[in-house]
Amino acid sequence: MQITNEIKYVGVNDRTIDLFEGQYVVPNGVSYNSYVIMDDKIAVFDTVDKRKTEDWLSNVENVLGGKKPDYLVISHMEPDHSASIDAFLKKYPSATVVGNEKTFNIAERFFGDIFKNKLVVNEGEELSLGKHNLKFVFAPMVHWPEVMFTYETTEKVLFSADAFGKFGALDVDEEWACEARRYYFNIVGKYGATVQSVLKKAAALDIKIICPLHGPVLNENLEYYIGKYNIWSSYQPEDKGVLIAYASIYGNTAKAAEQLAELLREKGEKVAVADLARCDMAEAIEDAFRYDRLVTASVTYDGGLFPAMESFLSHLKAKNYQNRTVAFIENGSWAPMSGKLMRGFFDGMKNITVIDKLVTVKSAVKDDTKEELKQLAAELVK
Ligand code: FEO
Repeated sequence: MQITNEIKYVGVNDRTIDLFEGQYVVPNGVSYNSYVIMDDKIAVFDTVDKRKTEDWLSNVENVLGGKKPDYLVISHMEPDHSASIDAFLKKYPSATVVGNEKTFNIAERFFGDIFKNKLVVNEGEELSLGKHNLKFVFAPMVHWPEVMFTYETTEKVLFSADAFGKFGALDVDEEWACEARRYYFNIVGKYGATVQSVLKKAAALDIKIICPLHGPVLNENLEYYIGKYNIWSSYQPEDKGVLIAYASIYGNTAKAAEQLAELLREKGEKVAVADLARCDMAEAIEDAFRYDRLVTASVTYDGGLFPAMESFLSHLKAKNYQNRTVAFIENGSWAPMSGKLMRGFFDGMKNITVIDKLVTVKSAVKDDTKEELKQLAAELVK
């Protein structure tokens, strides 16, 4: 695939991986992107997951047309991009590996002492390939410490590492935002502050094309993608709406959650409902960040929270959830505790508004519960 006359795509699709990063379902697979710039000097950008080493090496060979690569630029050492470095160097031993000091610290932990020809670059340093010129822009903790973008100054192409990437193989026709948002919040979400710093650096560049490490190359309407990243990394809600996330054993807590959803929909609210024991947790996390309000509903279990709810709230905390309004529905047949426990998870999170109205379901939804749910719905739309 051609990005420009001299910049080629050599990445691969993976449609068979069961769990990306060992935990995320990817129903439409994922792509491991890699690029080549053909110039007086030839640079390859990143390798791919070891599941696809041979396919990738074959793509690289086809594009090189018998020539030898001069450089392998490493933007990120996570193994979905770095695992084929050793195979590449076995095939092209004269290539110089380009990275920063942290890149090589991590690379040597993975591969040992295989880097005979290496070029250690600093922030802002440039490397000429002939007509093309690479400028290295460090992006530490987006989402690993060694991450660096490369800006090609002639054709104005940003090689953006994981940033602007999405789940989904490239032969899938699907909306960018949904799977990019799920990717962002679950994988990069904790590091909003560092993403903001890098976006400021990127704003100083004239960018025509973004080449991420996953998902499609972006070559039009770039302000849309950058705008989404700005909203997500600043932890601002993207849409007005309510996520109701519930953990239920026998369906009574679920019933309360569904009734609240119905009441809110009647008021014209956009509502998403997640059954935390069954849904994709990553999707629930995504929706929690997408909307401005969150209601969690959990049964009390062993005097604590039902495990699926505990897991959901731990994820939110780990991803720096903030700037939202939250409310709770608890259930318990003898000593309901889950309201207090859920509320405790939000202590210490930034700028969380807690709605005082706590709906308590005592075993099953009855008329008095319905009344309480109406009151909660009214509070949520205020
Ligand atoms: Fe796609 Fe952080 O690796």
